[in-house]
Amino acid sequence: MTEKLKIAVLMGGQSAERSVSLATGTQVLNALDPEKYAVIAIDTATGLSSLPRPAGGGGEESPVTALTQLPQLEKDGLPDVVFIALHGPGGEDGSVQGFLEVLRIPYTGSGVLASALAMDKARYKMLCTSASIPTPAGIVIKRGESARIRKAGEEIGLQLGFPVVIKPCRQGSSYGTRLVKAPEEVLDALKDTFRYDDTALVEECVKGVEITVAVLGNESDCFALPPVEIIPKHEFFDFEDKYSADGAEEICPARLSDEDTKEAKELALECHRLLGCRGMSRTDMFVTDDGCVVLETNTIPGMTPTSLLPKAAAAAGISFERLLDLLIGYSIDSSARRGPGGK
Ligand SMILES: Nc1ncnc2c1ncn2[C@@H]1O[C@H](COP(=O)(O)OP(=O)(O)OP(=O)(O)O)[C@@H](O)[C@H]1O
Ligand SMILES: [Mg+2]
Repeated sequence: MTEKLKIAVLMGGQSAERSVSLATGTQVLNALDPEKYAVIAIDTATGLSSLPRPAGGGGEESPVTALTQLPQLEKDGLPDVVFIALHGPGGEDGSVQGFLEVLRIPYTGSGVLASALAMDKARYKMLCTSASIPTPAGIVIKRGESARIRKAGEEIGLQLGFPVVIKPCRQGSSYGTRLVKAPEEVLDALKDTFRYDDTALVEECVKGVEITVAVLGNESDCFALPPVEIIPKHEFFDFEDKYSADGAEEICPARLSDEDTKEAKELALECHRLLGCRGMSRTDMFVTDDGCVVLETNTIPGMTPTSLLPKAAAAAGISFERLLDLLIGYSIDSSARRGPGGK
């Protein structure tokens, strides 16, 4: 009998997306095949307290340790792979990935640089621009720029015109994101955005069909899943639309022409490779009359019951269990390829 792989699932964390991460982590815990994997769950913020129990674990409670105890797991053997089910700053931005690099433990998803670049929407935009990947016109406003903030309505009107979308540079799940239609709404929106980050990204509001395209695989060997079309119930794809049962309508495969589907998939692959993503990514974009415009690339897309990546995988005939097997496989492959210095 082959020995089971030891998997530590990291979830929870301290970002605003904690609840989404707990939902993702629970879904992952429940679906990891107990015949193949010995699984422990680790809440990187609170240790034991708010962890859900995995189903199908033989009725036993999972041993749960705080992240800082990982190195002390040595006596029982370090995990073979860490499955990172964290979202947002502290989990998706390269910091946990760097910690695991130092410990030389393979982990799912992208490495330090790709994670950090994808988390920072302003720097991501600069990178896309340098590679001629279309993104919405935008400007960056920092929390400390009080004189500029007072006149931001005027500046935005001149530079971009209204409506615009104002959002935190490093956040996800549409937290702190607002559709702003007039100069007098700007201050309020910026205040909300600065609750989540000290840097706000103000973008022209793109009109078109909203889609997201997931990519699986490592940089040199990856493929795009069918695009998912998003039809929000609200003015844009906000938190409620993303996570409530009667949220946005999501159609997979998206109702696009073959030509648009091809362009969207190629663009998602290009973003995956440009950032140097590993394992998975999900690029959000709009299909406009002038072609696709990219909003962002997520390196740890949600895996809750309503999430888009599992939906796209299912449309391609990849079950959730198989998706997890693939992600674990990619993490081992890429870590072996990076050699002993980057196990
Ligand atoms: N420039 C824009 N034009 C039109 N709509 C936008 C724009 N930017 C953001 N949106 C809307 O806001 C939503 C959230 O924006 P975005 O994907 O950039 O941020 P996020 O919070 O990081 O998302 P995720 O939950 O995918 O990580 C988008 O799905 C889209 O509906
Ligand atoms: Mg998004």
